[in-house]
Amino acid sequence: MKNSLIVVLLAAGLPALAQNTAPLTARLDKVSLTFALSPDGRPTYAVQLGPKPVINTSRLGLELADGKGFDGPLEVTGSETKNVDESWNPVWGEVKTIRNHYQQLTVHLRQPQAPGRRLDVVFRVFADGVGFRYEFPQQPNLTYFVVQQEKTEFNLPANHKAFWIPGDYDSNEYTYSTTRLSEVNTTPIEPIQLKAAAQRIQTPLMLKSDDGLYVNIHEAALVNYPAMMLNVNTKSFSLSSQLVPSATGAAAYLQAPEHTPWRTIIVSDKAPEVLGSKLILNLNEPTKFPTTDWIKPQKFVGVWWEMHVNKASWNYADTSNIKLVGTDWSKLKANGHHGANTANVKRYIDFAAKHGLQSVLVEGWNVGWEDWANNWKEEVFDFVTPYPDFNVQELQTYAASKGVKLMMHHETSSSVTNYERRQDAAYRFMKQYGYDAVKTGYVGRIIPRGEHHDGQWMVNHYNRTAQKTGENQLMVDMHESVRPTGLHRTYPNWLASEAARGNEFNAWSTGNPPEHETILPFTRLMGGPMDYTPGIFQIKLEGWNPERNQGKQVHTTLAKQLALYVTMYSPVQMAADLPEAYEQHLDAFQFIKDVAVDWDDTRILLAEPGDYLTTARKAKGTEEWYVGSITDEKARTQTITLDFLTPGTTYEATIYADGKGASWDKNPQAYQIRRQKVSNKSTLKLQLAAGGGAAISLKPVNK
Ligand code: NOJ
Ligand code: CA
Repeated sequence: MKNSLIVVLLAAGLPALAQNTAPLTARLDKVSLTFALSPDGRPTYAVQLGPKPVINTSRLGLELADGKGFDGPLEVTGSETKNVDESWNPVWGEVKTIRNHYQQLTVHLRQPQAPGRRLDVVFRVFADGVGFRYEFPQQPNLTYFVVQQEKTEFNLPANHKAFWIPGDYDSNEYTYSTTRLSEVNTTPIEPIQLKAAAQRIQTPLMLKSDDGLYVNIHEAALVNYPAMMLNVNTKSFSLSSQLVPSATGAAAYLQAPEHTPWRTIIVSDKAPEVLGSKLILNLNEPTKFPTTDWIKPQKFVGVWWEMHVNKASWNYADTSNIKLVGTDWSKLKANGHHGANTANVKRYIDFAAKHGLQSVLVEGWNVGWEDWANNWKEEVFDFVTPYPDFNVQELQTYAASKGVKLMMHHETSSSVTNYERRQDAAYRFMKQYGYDAVKTGYVGRIIPRGEHHDGQWMVNHYNRTAQKTGENQLMVDMHESVRPTGLHRTYPNWLASEAARGNEFNAWSTGNPPEHETILPFTRLMGGPMDYTPGIFQIKLEGWNPERNQGKQVHTTLAKQLALYVTMYSPVQMAADLPEAYEQHLDAFQFIKDVAVDWDDTRILLAEPGDYLTTARKAKGTEEWYVGSITDEKARTQTITLDFLTPGTTYEATIYADGKGASWDKNPQAYQIRRQKVSNKSTLKLQLAAGGGAAISLKPVNK
């Protein structure tokens, strides 16, 4: 019987059911991967860069809710390898063409005892790291199943330096701690919605070893599965996966055939190479949208910061605890400082039109804000009813006459059941009034109650929203979503997410320390673009509202705010300050007007997480380059060589630098602008103030 089964399987081209315990390997350039069964039959893997261990032998496996999962001994029934080397062009991005080159090793596993379930582990080894995922083939003994917990481990060879945020299931809006793995301690962290057990941290996790390796651990293509957090063993330096639970306590509800997201390990001995890695994007599926020419990278202003600095309000009336949907708004008395009023929105439209910015975000335009951050309330917003002082029709006509787009805002207050019921009508409303992009938001506790922002139910919601907006040819920018995993390759209309601690925190908390923006590219941005909302010129915020903004300020210089347009990659970038702030510094604002949001090439010139970053990018379809250089709280000199410029061409460099005596705390608005001719032979010395930066535009000079 058994023999005939093997013959049948071989005849069908399937792997033979033969026990194979010899280690299996795959390698590309200096990166090598070893798969082996442990002496007790459990699957393990290890990763090396040249001779250096990156991940020591670590367990693989999954625990299923029925107790018959893949966390015990398994046998290898076969394996395959293949080599893939191809290129593709993203719809928008940091570079024009991306090479996808990897060695794949698929290992077929089976439980030796009944029910004899089968599991595949697929590894892809790239020149800059490894991705692997679990695949559940179609099989009689595994149809519908529930993953209780994943048992993936990342055993690090030493007590690396780690850049981490606590493993909150509902928020990633934290400042980073930099400690040794042995010192990870999430207990005293400022609680936002902290539900983390001690020593649980989030990915992307950035690590640096004493022998000079930069290691980044994250995941790619998070689809129909919860986000992975990491439990840190502070003694053995082992990290183990912790999937965000659903309301029932189980992690993922699946049906075979299915697979998990990719677990990713990016490694290099050079920090800039980590930032240049395309491994996560390559592990995502190409888009299925039939056309993408309606997707437009863009810069925008918004009726937004004036609410964050307490100059205006989202709500129209100062009433709370009222039944919002169905209220007769004409009977409520306006509070007199509602930001999203028709005249004020026109002011922003005029500003965008005058300066060539594509769109205007308007928050607080729709009824519901009187009672929005109320965690028990399901029916808050309907997404189609404007306040009485926001004339949607008039603004549509006005914006169109100025060649400006309005950007929709859907704050769901995390009442996601309500949003899902109303999404179709909300998108129809957008189409009717000429909106082609929406910023969504998920502030507060999730409804359905018990679900988390980073659990499977919400992951599916974000992905459904990307799909649904895409089908309607709408672009989307999600705030408070799960952190990205490269899905913008599949959904190029998903321009950005926030999913980290944005610039806005400077307005209403202790803010972001000057090192924050030197860490984000190595952590949060590894998975995709961030709507960080750079470009605050009025650094000290007291002027907007002396009483409520006492001591509040952005923790950078003005020049560093400019540099962020280059160092923080996003195809949708806000000019976040108020028009009146820009009007006082139109010479510096010129950089924001000029800088591109879509690129043919990117060079990371200098980088060290937590310290500094200098990035150069070539604007899409032009010969122009833009450079951003930032530092943490230390003043630094950064010397850069412009050897990326086209040989034989002269460029005019406009350098927006920190002024004499500038520093983020004492003198943040001091800047100087100088111009000089440069070529690919030139070097520039950039003096960055404490918490400072420099931004450079490089435009070819017409001969
Ligand atoms: C938090 C978002 O990050 C911010 O951009 C928005 O203005 C508020 N929520 C209100 O939706
Ligand atoms: Ca936020």
